Amino acid sequence: MKQIDLSRGMVFVTGGGGSIGGAICVEAARAGAKVAVADFNLDAAKATCEKIEAIGGTALAYEIDVTNRNNVGEVMKKAVAELGEMIGLVTGAAVLRTGPVADQSEQGWRDIMSVNVDGTFHAVQAAVPHLSESKGAIVTLGSVSAFIGSDEGAAYTTTKGAVLSFTYAVAGDLAPRGIRVNAVSPGWVDGGFTHQAMSQMENPEELVETARRMHYLGRMATPTDVANAAVWLLSDQAAFVTGTSLLVDGGYMVKH
Ligand SMILES: NC(=O)c1ccc[n+]([C@@H]2O[C@H](COP(=O)([O-])OP(=O)(O)OC[C@H]3O[C@@H](n4cnc5c(N)ncnc54)[C@H](O)[C@@H]3O)[C@@H](O)[C@H]2O)c1
Repeated sequence: MKQIDLSRGMVFVTGGGGSIGGAICVEAARAGAKVAVADFNLDAAKATCEKIEAIGGTALAYEIDVTNRNNVGEVMKKAVAELGEMIGLVTGAAVLRTGPVADQSEQGWRDIMSVNVDGTFHAVQAAVPHLSESKGAIVTLGSVSAFIGSDEGAAYTTTKGAVLSFTYAVAGDLAPRGIRVNAVSPGWVDGGFTHQAMSQMENPEELVETARRMHYLGRMATPTDVANAAVWLLSDQAAFVTGTSLLVDGGYMVKH
């Protein structure tokens, strides 16, 4: 079997200090890429870099605010100057906010749109000149939440639906430049937002049990399960794949 090889350049990951973003950084490094680990939380980005260095990879941590278009452009240029040609972008930065739509504040709505949707747009737009040169690839982060209803999740699910629609549209826009654009759409992942939700529950074990029932494969995804799919989409192994959302959900969607 052919190995996944990303050794021809650098992969830039927003939210690289997070659970899924961090795992994507590590797996991209394992596939040979240099990795720009960009996150609002610089300490978390540095922790991801340490994991990459521990496996002999090359990574640099960058503080970034994806809601700020200029900042995203500047950080990306700096990463290219320091790590070399960019061949991939992963937009993992996001926030989770939940609550009944009747109580949704205007500011709360704007905040989540700003990170999850505007942030994805800013990173993709900034990456276009770099990826046009390298004929690189983009992977956005969708979710099964984009396809189904979720209790008290109106704002979050709206952002994930928007990210998927954006992904499909941009795939067409950027195909003439030789840039492929796809999404990974995880089910429940054992980390990040799931742990955030569990920390607010009286009995978090209930959620683990529910996950067992909801996914055909009887468990949540690990962040690495999602990372493996993202890294494959970035690689030449997926050379004819664009404009798709790859479910990494252990059968969650077909079980519904
Ligand atoms: N955890 C799940 O079950 C799950 C399921 C489906 C999809 N996802 C998606 O996966 C992605 C990662 O989620 P996660 O669960 O790993 O969460 P996470 O909180 O571990 O990671 C999100 C990262 O984004 C960073 N971030 C937040 N605001 C930012 C900003 N303004 N600028 C730059 N970085 C910012 C955070 O610091 C954090 O490191 C998200 O897009 C999420 O929607 C998660």
